[in-house]
Amino acid sequence: MAENTDPVRVMKQEVGKAAAAKVKSNSIVGLGTGSTTAYAIEYLGERLRTGEIENIVGIPTSFQAEVLAKKYGIPLTSLDAVDSIDIAIDGADEVDPSKNLIKGGGAAHTREKVVDTLANLFVVVVDSGKLVDKLGSTFLLPVEVIPMAVTPVMRRLEKLGGKPELRMGVKKAGPVVTDQGNLVIDVKFEQIDNPAELEKTINNIPGVLENGLFVGVADVVLVGEIKEGKPVVFEI
Ligand code: 5RP
Repeated sequence: MAENTDPVRVMKQEVGKAAAAKVKSNSIVGLGTGSTTAYAIEYLGERLRTGEIENIVGIPTSFQAEVLAKKYGIPLTSLDAVDSIDIAIDGADEVDPSKNLIKGGGAAHTREKVVDTLANLFVVVVDSGKLVDKLGSTFLLPVEVIPMAVTPVMRRLEKLGGKPELRMGVKKAGPVVTDQGNLVIDVKFEQIDNPAELEKTINNIPGVLENGLFVGVADVVLVGEIKEGKPVVFEI
């Protein structure tokens, strides 16, 4: 694994390692998206390479996860070829005290929700800055929408009390396009009091594919923190 001295990156690396350490031989593993999960994928590849574990297959949640899995030598399969997923490892943008999540910072929440909800054990990897009392406090809620429905969906989101904005690309002119060819609307809600209800209400708007609320899905949350200049990982 590449040497790293930046404390935040080292902390992400440690959380990723702790998650990858939970994977046993002969497992089907959901491979999440994001900078923290990337370390889990890297370390999983290392465990395979050194023979510490064997016979792992991954199911990627994004193009990014697929590319990383190939880079680190993790064989891939698809949901058509498996009956269940043993463990999924994925990041999050916010985590509340009931382990409900907001995801979609990488615009991959639709595939992530498919894979993460199918896993017998869903392990979330975050830094302590992602822990919030109420979802929506720090992060906008991502909503994936088919392109022709963007305007009516935005109007409906406003009627629900949200402030929607179309996610724009960085180093790419125009909007972010998801791995499915759709667009993402990020919505600011003053507070999300009932995430389970809001998740269903938004998904019921015609043209919405999926939103980033993950309610009752996470089993374990691994949290990284820097204490006295050193990374520590704890589990909730
Ligand atoms: C992608 C996600 C990511 O898991 C989430 O944005 C966290 O990413 P990072 O570990 O880079 O902070 O939901 O859609």
